[in-house]
Amino acid sequence: MNVQIGKKLIWLSEVDSTNKYLTDLSKDQLDEGLAVATNNQVEGRGQRGNTWESQKDKNITFSFILYPNFIKVQEQFLLSQAISLGICDMLAQLIKGVSIKWPNDIYVNNNKIAGILIEHAISSAQLDRSIIGIGLNVNQKIFSDDLPNPTSLLLETGNTFDINQTLEILCNSVSLRYNEIKNGQMAKIQTDYLKLLYRRNEFHTYSSDGKKFEAIIAGVRSTGELILETRNGERKEFGFKEISFF
Ligand code: BTN
Repeated sequence: MNVQIGKKLIWLSEVDSTNKYLTDLSKDQLDEGLAVATNNQVEGRGQRGNTWESQKDKNITFSFILYPNFIKVQEQFLLSQAISLGICDMLAQLIKGVSIKWPNDIYVNNNKIAGILIEHAISSAQLDRSIIGIGLNVNQKIFSDDLPNPTSLLLETGNTFDINQTLEILCNSVSLRYNEIKNGQMAKIQTDYLKLLYRRNEFHTYSSDGKKFEAIIAGVRSTGELILETRNGERKEFGFKEISFF
């Protein structure tokens, strides 16, 4: 049966982190797709132990619960790909230049507009329960200086957006992509993800182990590793923390 993310939605005026709130809730079985959104997330969590900044009332900060028990633990990256595509599909209706910076930062040209934090509970060879958090910058204009390259829908389009309506569209778009993998369309997700990768088809500078090198993206493993090909044709694979983009 298809899942409709956000059909049931808990709206909080303020919370530390929607991911944390949902994780604390989900000790009992909750409906798949249940979402928690907030006007004011005060301790937003980001990837790799970072924080996620969001000005009160300006952006989408929400999390939802999925039970992707059809995905093997070692192929959990598929879920990340599907969610990334769902966000891109929605944004591409509004702006040009949307891409996915591997593994799952959502970019508009060279700036980050959205981030995803996925936290899994695993008790077997398959994924058991996943809490997916999405932060999408909507109407925020000014960001703290610590952030290297933030952007928002307002900065990109000059228009302000209704947060509730935008969240509903986002939920629909992400649901469509999640239901694709639920219905076995894994290859489509992988192909569409590759097409949307930031800096695809061009040589760029990367850095690993303190060494810089030029390479082009050759692919992404189903287990998530980025495959790069250097100018002399050498292929190398990198896990999440093993490479940075310049
Ligand atoms: C990243 O670092 O790019 C991931 C950011 C994820 C932020 C979202 S906002 C809603 C949800 N709750 C959190 O605490 N984090 C995620």
